Amino acid sequence: PLANFSVGPEPPRFRPAYLQATTQNIELPKGFLYGVSTAATQVEGAVKEGGRGPSNWDWGCHNNITVCNNEVPDVTVNEYYQYKQDIQRVKAMGVNAFSFSIAWARILPFGHRGSPVSEEGLQFYDNFIDELLKNGIEPVATLFHWDTPLNLMSQYGAFLNNSIVEDFDNYASIAFQRYGKKVKTWFTFNEPHVYCDQYAAYPYNSLYTGGINATTAPYTCVPNLIKAHAVAVQTYRGLISEGKIAKGKIALKHDGQRPIPFDSNSASDREVVERRADIYIGIFSQPIYVDGNYPKRVLDTIPASILRRFTDDEKKIIKGSADFYAIDSYATIVAKTPPNGIEACASNVNDPNWPICQDISDNVSQYSTQSGWAVGAAADPLSPWLADTSQWLRYQLNWLTKTYPTPGGIYISEFGFAEPYEYLRTENYQLAWDERRSNYLLDYLNAALLAIHEDKIDLRGMLIWTPIDNFEWNLATQQKFGLQHVNHSTPGLDRTYKLSFFQVRDFFKQHLV
Ligand code: NOJ
Repeated sequence: PLANFSVGPEPPRFRPAYLQATTQNIELPKGFLYGVSTAATQVEGAVKEGGRGPSNWDWGCHNNITVCNNEVPDVTVNEYYQYKQDIQRVKAMGVNAFSFSIAWARILPFGHRGSPVSEEGLQFYDNFIDELLKNGIEPVATLFHWDTPLNLMSQYGAFLNNSIVEDFDNYASIAFQRYGKKVKTWFTFNEPHVYCDQYAAYPYNSLYTGGINATTAPYTCVPNLIKAHAVAVQTYRGLISEGKIAKGKIALKHDGQRPIPFDSNSASDREVVERRADIYIGIFSQPIYVDGNYPKRVLDTIPASILRRFTDDEKKIIKGSADFYAIDSYATIVAKTPPNGIEACASNVNDPNWPICQDISDNVSQYSTQSGWAVGAAADPLSPWLADTSQWLRYQLNWLTKTYPTPGGIYISEFGFAEPYEYLRTENYQLAWDERRSNYLLDYLNAALLAIHEDKIDLRGMLIWTPIDNFEWNLATQQKFGLQHVNHSTPGLDRTYKLSFFQVRDFFKQHLV
């Protein structure tokens, strides 16, 4: 029963000595957003409930196109039905924010403007948001976290066609009008680079009969997505100024890490760092935060025939189309000059002649997560890269502050750790033991304190990926980022707290004012 909800027996806790020395008394700024983050496809399940239309991920996993570890996202962790319990479980962590995404196909099963709107779909998010608010947790909503109404893919290739701009605006406008009095922090898009690069085209070539050029598709997607973002932000601001919704803020969740150079004495390794940062982050951030245009390195590298240039009118609405800066930031990346020279270094997973700017972090790191990302926690003797990960976070935050200044401050909209070594420790505690994830999170949070305190970074919030082990896209249940474990062999999909849940709770108890 929810009324008697308790977190159960408390595990032994530790706070690594290196954290106590330097940051014990640092307070987080007033109003700091402390929360967790999820996405519809990864947690909701109930894919046919309430008239929800199919998404690219439903179709891809069912048809083994995206090879989701031979699983399907039909149930995942069943949050559509279990959200009340899940909110209580997260509330016990003391969070003041919950970031979730809205499934476009739940609201508009066919996706496009003029098509039927599902009242039941709208109602689900109303209930979800109300439950958060009732529990003192601020809802943070993402409109697009990769799941795309299948109909838009098959009709016109979704983000490979500029019709997406109006269709996204129509969907966004419905969501703003419905939830805009209650939701005051919005993200239009989640990780646009990952989406355009990996999911906008491949593996839907067979679906869209108009034909997809897989090699250039990532760059067809980019201007369409940026414009869709900017137009929706215009709509949002218009609704605010007409007094139809509450005054809130909006941005998008960038992805990508600014790498560190493999050899900082090598001019070409340093240049590879800049290229990779521009092609991953700058391609979206510079138009939005600086001048409405792509970074020079992008313009010089990718011809207009592949990456459409913005018109002057477009530049005007794109520039300034975000109220704050948000980035999903997980791990250190190390960049090195490719054997065939820096000119060959761009980022396009589909083009063998034009590979990703080399990321050799897996080769140099002796410690990596289940996802192969070079992260860790400084307290772990196995991990010489631990110290570097926290150093790197400060380096990235300093760089972002200089490069994409915004009066709205910076949010880390996702960070987290795929722990390969956790295990259920049920003999003494109903608890999963994830010591490395705990170390990573504490180390990372500690670095954030230092960034705020020492580097004067205007960091205003951090959202942890993720409250519960969920459907990690192609890897489905194989890869676990959660602060809670899910037992898929129980009918109620029983949740168990992990050590990290308590460690993070205690950290914020100490530092949040
Ligand atoms: C970022 C994505 O937004 C999220 O969907 C994913 O699960 C995490 N990274 C972990 O890979």
